[in-house]
Amino acid sequence: MNNNTNNPSNSNTPSTASGTVASFSPGLEGVVACKTRLSHVDGAGGKLVLAGHNAITLAENNTIEEVWFLLHEGRLPNAAELHAFRNRIESLGQMPADEINLVKKLRGAEPLSAFRTALSAIANKRGYKPWLGRPAKEAIDEIMALCALAPAIVEVLHTGRRPRLKKDDAGYAERYLWGVTGKKPSKDDVRAVETYLILTMDHGLNASTFASRVAASTGADVGAAITSGIGTLSGPLHGGAPGPVLDMLDSIASPDQADAWVRAQLAGGTRLMGFGHRIYRTDDPRSMCLKRVAERQNGPRIELAKVTEQTCLNVLAEKQCQRAAAEGKAVRALRVNVEFWTAVVLEHVGIPRQLFSSTFCASRIIGWGEHIAEQIQDNKLFRPLSIYTGEMPAE
Ligand SMILES: CC(C)(COP(=O)(O)OP(=O)(O)OC[C@H]1O[C@@H](n2cnc3c(N)ncnc32)[C@H](O)[C@@H]1OP(=O)(O)O)[C@@H](O)C(=O)NCCC(=O)NCCS
Repeated sequence: MNNNTNNPSNSNTPSTASGTVASFSPGLEGVVACKTRLSHVDGAGGKLVLAGHNAITLAENNTIEEVWFLLHEGRLPNAAELHAFRNRIESLGQMPADEINLVKKLRGAEPLSAFRTALSAIANKRGYKPWLGRPAKEAIDEIMALCALAPAIVEVLHTGRRPRLKKDDAGYAERYLWGVTGKKPSKDDVRAVETYLILTMDHGLNASTFASRVAASTGADVGAAITSGIGTLSGPLHGGAPGPVLDMLDSIASPDQADAWVRAQLAGGTRLMGFGHRIYRTDDPRSMCLKRVAERQNGPRIELAKVTEQTCLNVLAEKQCQRAAAEGKAVRALRVNVEFWTAVVLEHVGIPRQLFSSTFCASRIIGWGEHIAEQIQDNKLFRPLSIYTGEMPAE
């Protein structure tokens, strides 16, 4: 094993085309890889901005379609624009019979894998081609069409039935919830889901958004770019966390067992799902917003969830302090992230836990779509460097 990965004078140290020696940041931590007008995560201040607006204010007051329009156009819609945009999303969201049959065949697989495969199959069936060399508008229309299908794809995969037509005048959030629960949801439940979907719609250059942009930067078709995002979202460190959060609450079962359970998990080297974040160094504002939703719901899990949250925070803080003292480093606080309270809120509205990641996908797909469109309109191929750690051939 060649051990010279940090020595810039070695010949296997990467350099750019201009000869500049590149620096290495594991996990690209702290690396800026693109510009975006879509969202900004202020990790130190605990703020999330969506296209010039406070995301929490949007999540508490606006609809998915309004925020989608905001990301798409850079401003909130007036009443007529909103009406037209809602109709467009609703109409694009109707899945033709042959596509319903295609999606039905994927039932039985793990839901997010099935979603990924369904979306990819639909893009292929529609004949979507690499965007490079075509007018950007064509690709952007294709993105919109795929994103609008998300509620119907999840519904068909979950129920095996063709989606109900129209569902009264339901918007995206209501259609999604109605589709997966099979019954007309209450206004409060729709509002809770809408809040969640807006909060998670976009979040800077997170791993799945980055993956989508990387795929788009090659000129690939938009179905491939979105599918890259779904695959990346599926991991437990990203979008796969909220299901395991409920498993954790199930295992703890009663508040007096929380401390022992959490300590045992950490002693066994298991990460606590729903805690920690690469960017936030203070409270994740999305989590605080969803906690307020959960408190309003006041479901049977609420007391256990609150005690578990506090216990996890206390034990993690203790561990981080011990670690910092042992290593002589500053304490890195681990806070609750968006996934913990997501689990409590989504369970309360009747979304089964195996659909939590698909629900996240039904929101983040809008962010991926807008990022892919942004990439298409100002493209530069992503092509970072790597440090070669193998042997060099004898000259
Ligand atoms: C989200 C996450 C991947 C961010 O990680 P990151 O900023 O890259 O930080 P690292 O993975 O390098 O973790 C730094 C240290 O903090 C610890 N840590 C971070 N999150 C932790 C958690 N949830 N539970 C226990 N320890 C944690 C790690 O063990 C690590 O120590 P190590 O170097 O000895 O392994 C990480 O916090 C995590 O795994 N959280 C749990 C999964 C989750 O909730 N994901 C949803 C994110 S919105």
